[in-house]
Amino acid sequence: MRTVTSVAGMQRRALDWRRGGVRIGLVPTMGYLHAGHLSLVKRARRFVGPRGKIVLSIYVNPTQFGPSEDFSRYPRDLARDLRLCREAGVDVVFAPSDESMYPGKANGTYSTYVVEERLSRTMEGGSRPTHFRGVTTVVAKLFNVVLPDVAVFGAKDWQQAAIIRRMTTDLNFPVKVLVAPTLRESDGLAMSSRNKFLAGDLRRQALVLSQAIRHVARRVAKAPAGVPAPVLRREVGRLVRREPRAQLDYVEFFVPDTLVPLSRVARGGHMALAVFVGNTRLIDNARL
Ligand code: PAJ
Repeated sequence: MRTVTSVAGMQRRALDWRRGGVRIGLVPTMGYLHAGHLSLVKRARRFVGPRGKIVLSIYVNPTQFGPSEDFSRYPRDLARDLRLCREAGVDVVFAPSDESMYPGKANGTYSTYVVEERLSRTMEGGSRPTHFRGVTTVVAKLFNVVLPDVAVFGAKDWQQAAIIRRMTTDLNFPVKVLVAPTLRESDGLAMSSRNKFLAGDLRRQALVLSQAIRHVARRVAKAPAGVPAPVLRREVGRLVRREPRAQLDYVEFFVPDTLVPLSRVARGGHMALAVFVGNTRLIDNARL
């Protein structure tokens, strides 16, 4: 396994592979890897085969964090990540520096961004207005640097995956975008690098996200004609308020592929929510 830290070095390698007919799979991450990330590596390997190359990128992308968000305290452990990648059969870890990814950003000359204008407005985009501009920009850059045949994303970030699919179609990237299921801890908590912040009782209180999803799934399973979204929103609000350190940021019900909001929620609809647990903002989602 190789670690590549420069954009030019990564792109040279990718161009060589492409010219040699080698298939490339990309798994973009911000590091502090867990089993959810590694499941994306397995999915990418299945797609490119044993002779293909898997690139896992590790880059805590500054442009997707708002000024008051957790960029500086986002967990990092490159040595551990490299060990996990080696065990998972990753061929190249691409871990670029800020200066390599955004040349000129420190002195203000970097000025090009990729903006998705429709799906980015609600949910995560509503609470974090510049977040998806950072995500689409860095993923477009990774596509241009790694030249993947396939890129794998997690359903854990459902809206992100929908926006990246849209961007890939709209900008004609010759990349197949795959979305792999959310991996959870045995008690239901969706795996996330940010779970590291859940000390003591916060870890238990964080279960309120998956509990809210289960509650709503049961409600709509028993109501063939669906349940009005405002009723479900109130019930989720009540559930979250039972945990002393949990605060609901949003809960939305929508059509899975288009993210169009539902006024009545029935089976097959999709639910997503964001909850602050202590100072840590967690998200989860599921098909109902
Ligand atoms: P990060 O949060 O590190 O997640 C990297 C990828 O892992 C994303 O596609 C995410 O959806 C997926 N993932 C996270 N937790 C998962 C889980 N429990 N089960 C399955 N997949 C999971 O998402 C990002 O980084 C960034 O926004 C990025 C796309 C890398 C752009 O900077």
